[in-house]
Amino acid sequence: MDRFIIRGGRPLHGEITIGGAKNAGLKLLVAGLLTSERLVLTNVPHIADIATMESLLRQHGLTVETVGGDKTKLSVGGEITSTEAPYDIVSKMRASILVLGPLLARCREARVSLPGGCAIGTRPVDLHLKGLETLGAKITLENGYINARAPNGLTGDRIVLPFASVGATENLMMAATLAHGRTEIVNAAREPEMVDLADCLNAMGARITGAGTGHIIIDGVEALHGAEHRIMSDRIECGTYACAAAITGGDLRLIGGNVDHLGAVVRAFEEAGVEVTQEGDVMRVRRTGALRGIDIMTEPYPGFPTDMQAQFMALLSVAEGASMITETIFENRFMHVPELNRMGARINVHGSSAIIRGVHSLSGAPVMATDLRASFSLILAGLAAHGETILSRVYHLDRGYEAVERKLAACGAQIERVKD
Ligand code: EPZ
Repeated sequence: MDRFIIRGGRPLHGEITIGGAKNAGLKLLVAGLLTSERLVLTNVPHIADIATMESLLRQHGLTVETVGGDKTKLSVGGEITSTEAPYDIVSKMRASILVLGPLLARCREARVSLPGGCAIGTRPVDLHLKGLETLGAKITLENGYINARAPNGLTGDRIVLPFASVGATENLMMAATLAHGRTEIVNAAREPEMVDLADCLNAMGARITGAGTGHIIIDGVEALHGAEHRIMSDRIECGTYACAAAITGGDLRLIGGNVDHLGAVVRAFEEAGVEVTQEGDVMRVRRTGALRGIDIMTEPYPGFPTDMQAQFMALLSVAEGASMITETIFENRFMHVPELNRMGARINVHGSSAIIRGVHSLSGAPVMATDLRASFSLILAGLAAHGETILSRVYHLDRGYEAVERKLAACGAQIERVKD
């Protein structure tokens, strides 16, 4: 398993190109199940989760290939030959559950492994299943698999989500594109990735309005056709590298960064004493003075994103004063705390809240990654710490961030990957 060796204490200066969004790209690949024609995606990030999704789609019978040797350009298409999503793939990546809606809509049946939990929580899929049942699917659970059937196809209806679930919104939106009649999703997730998915589906011939609001309307059509779509830039990758500029007292230009996709995060940065400006398609982040402690609560978009929580905790661990972070989305997303404390942070967890007492400096230490965003919070701490930090289990990071060591080293960081 690869490790990172980081020597901290150097402010980062320079430019970082933000890649395509993992949490948009995964679902856009799945949209390829909705048509036998070719869907071409550009700005595809080169990360492990995308590769996992490619293998899942291939075992459904689709061809997934790069176009003209350009690994950021993928072509997806072909006929579905299997409607089963096996445990060995689904258990590796929860987003695999998103094939359920498209398979049902296209093939009127699906057998998808229950994804099981992950490090940050149990992460059930009950809202996905209830929504599909509202559209007429007959669903049973047995032997750890979801068996779903819709022999007469899906029928549009009104679905009210008790929680603005990102995955449930996406699964239902895709399923509804081929349902008979109109589907309304009320209390839908409003993340920018919903808009990106709807834009792609509409380019494929779907009829979706309201994406990005809490009320999405989908009028079903007979069939979807091929299209070409550029994946939006990864707002969480952008926010993560913005934290790197802030925690090292540097000045970074993030190419492809978009403050409109990070509203609550930009406000948090400014409250903490970090300057964020949009200059064309570049988001510039620099620290102009001491970091100040702030309070944060994670919420569905447009609130502060849970996917930025671990990164901000590292940042606030070296702020002046105290901070409180409350995690309202996942039940176990504080696993970075003990590792940060081993580097000298002073963080106490009380239920869903963490109290952070800022310290003057952190010290490097051997630490272990536990999940994707926690991994990067430890890199951020290592970049600011005195001495050497060795981060193990970097495979967690490789699931969702591309070329981290290259991007950081190009801005002055002392970081290298050591292959075991
Ligand atoms: C997506 O996960 C993202 N993953 C997550 O990013 C992100 O943290 C999350 O949305 C919230 O923004 C991808 O897009 C691949 P949810 P998802 O459905 O769809 C509960 C990362 O680091 N819930 O909005 O699983 C669930 O348990 C990852 O990139 C149900 O109870 O998120 C959780 O507590 C981590 N029943 C909460 O809702 C359901 O049927 C949020 O889940 C569905 C969800």
